[in-house]
Amino acid sequence: MQLTEKINALQTPCYLYNLTLLRKTLQKVTEEAGRYPAFHVHYAIKANANPVLLKVIREYGLGADCVSGNEIKRAVECGFPGNAIVYAGVGKSDEEIRTALQEDIFCFNCESLPEIRIINELAAQVNKKAHIALRINPNVDAHTHHYITTGIEENKFGIYLCDLDQVLAELPSLPHVKLTGLHFHIGSQITDMTVFRSLCLKANEIQQYLKNRGIVLPHINFGGGLGIDYNNPHAEPIADFASYFSTFARHFDPTSPNQQVHFELGRSVVAHCGDLLSRVLYVKEGKNKKFVILDAGMNDLLRPALYQAFHKIENISSRLPEEKYDVVGPICESSDCFGKDVTLTQTTRGDLIVIHSAGAYGETMASRYNLRNLPGYYFEGM
Ligand code: LLP
Repeated sequence: MQLTEKINALQTPCYLYNLTLLRKTLQKVTEEAGRYPAFHVHYAIKANANPVLLKVIREYGLGADCVSGNEIKRAVECGFPGNAIVYAGVGKSDEEIRTALQEDIFCFNCESLPEIRIINELAAQVNKKAHIALRINPNVDAHTHHYITTGIEENKFGIYLCDLDQVLAELPSLPHVKLTGLHFHIGSQITDMTVFRSLCLKANEIQQYLKNRGIVLPHINFGGGLGIDYNNPHAEPIADFASYFSTFARHFDPTSPNQQVHFELGRSVVAHCGDLLSRVLYVKEGKNKKFVILDAGMNDLLRPALYQAFHKIENISSRLPEEKYDVVGPICESSDCFGKDVTLTQTTRGDLIVIHSAGAYGETMASRYNLRNLPGYYFEGM
């Protein structure tokens, strides 16, 4: 990012979203998924729910993947029709289920039998038949950070394969739900395509098992998870959608020629389109190191503190020789640190620091810890 007068005038800390890059990314997503007519992409709103971004995403025809009643409402407000919305979550409240029923969403991705019974009951009250998919925990290891791995047996997510028969046996007694699909989501920030191949092979086995019992489902949903290159945001600003979709096209066997294949991509759509912009408050000389203390903290961008996540950090104000710094926030927590031994051009108070690739799970995970203000946001390429 270039330091311009406009950027210099922004109030920090703030997110700066690049809508031109977002459009290019969406162009690529729709082009690569569009090679396979049965493929449909839902954008996972939890990654970034900013209405301006959502409206652009909808322009490209993506559906929405929601995990709360408020996300469903936000999606509808931003132009996503109910029939393009999928809704997942291990703990859907009655009120959230009612919201989803009211919007006639495409599908509830269900994670347990008790949940399916409640959806049946609430759908009966409004005389509707809810379409459901069973979220299966396929026990496929995503080999990513353990906090964002969701498809192995020790996780709370999905229905275990050993419980599948019990669920199938009960469905005929629940007349207000209709089983239309299977759903998976095994984790996030996955860059190794062999993980997705393993998921396809597992899905093929499960579909064959169901077919042997006379069950052929109209759709399957593989969730999200495609990772991005946090190390090289400039060199690789668009995720490898071509490899991702072609992996599914190659390894997944639909049980019928018109079985539809859905995806729920979050991070890969928006991560590189947002940077966190922050100003240096102080440079503090420690015993053996120098600390750059920013006006942004872990409440603005939680990923480094929570997942030890790497984000590339750059000083756009200085062209002096490079030095090493620990880049930290102002909050009284040792984990309030954006990077240790970061190489930056020589830094002084007032310099503008860019924390790259913060468009996904940045603004949505911000909090008011310490009663700090929520970060602001600005757009480039409106
Ligand atoms: N579908 C479901 C059911 C999910 O749980 C998620 C993300 C997605 C789709 C989108 O996954 P993506 O394409 O973004 O990988 N806060 C963490 C990531 C948590 C992801 C949770 N589920 C982070 O900052 O790395």
